Amino acid sequence: MFITFEGPEGSGKTTQIQRLTTWLQKQGYAVLATREPGGTPIGDAVRAILLDKKNTAMTSRAEVLLFSAARAQLVEEVIKPFLEKGGIVLSDRFADSTFAYQGYGRGLNRDDLRRITAFATHSVWPNMTIYLDLPVEIGLRRKSNGATKEWNRMEEETLAYHRRVRDGYLALAAQEPKRWLLLDGTQGIDHIAAQIRQRVASALAES
Ligand code: TYD
Repeated sequence: MFITFEGPEGSGKTTQIQRLTTWLQKQGYAVLATREPGGTPIGDAVRAILLDKKNTAMTSRAEVLLFSAARAQLVEEVIKPFLEKGGIVLSDRFADSTFAYQGYGRGLNRDDLRRITAFATHSVWPNMTIYLDLPVEIGLRRKSNGATKEWNRMEEETLAYHRRVRDGYLALAAQEPKRWLLLDGTQGIDHIAAQIRQRVASALAES
């Protein structure tokens, strides 16, 4: 089973992935948690280029291809082999980030993104996507109070950009309500974790 976590900046995805990983492992499942961009040595090198604030000259088309290159490497090297062995893969972001950030955020053509994404993922696709929703101002404030005070290139984008990304996520979730679990990211950590566990447990029982 392949489960992805999505959300705007500071939505608490990382904490929830850690919680779910621990819980699934206690149930005896083989779990692999990864993140995008990154998750492989090549992907981590691409990540550094993508998030480097010096790279102000990066065009939207170059950006989407770099995110997709990191994804292609992650799918082939990590995700696909683990799924084929029957394990559960949890990913902090996946292709829906591209539709939200490069599509709704940057305004790139959706059909182009679909083709690029299908090529990069080799049609490996999440069974479930957990979306932690949060007003943009709250998420960015959480990030600026966090341990890493420096904002990366994506976080430095305008508030209007981040609002488009969030609205994009909500539109994506509405288009595929079966795959997406939409949760209010302002709720307490334990409460969110319980809702995620419940949904994942019922999906595992059905599979
Ligand atoms: P990261 O520091 O990992 O942020 P987060 O903790 O919010 O996941 O940085 C990843 C940034 O890259 C984040 O701003 C979202 C953005 N992104 C895209 O724009 N497109 C993509 O396809 C992916 C995977 C991420």
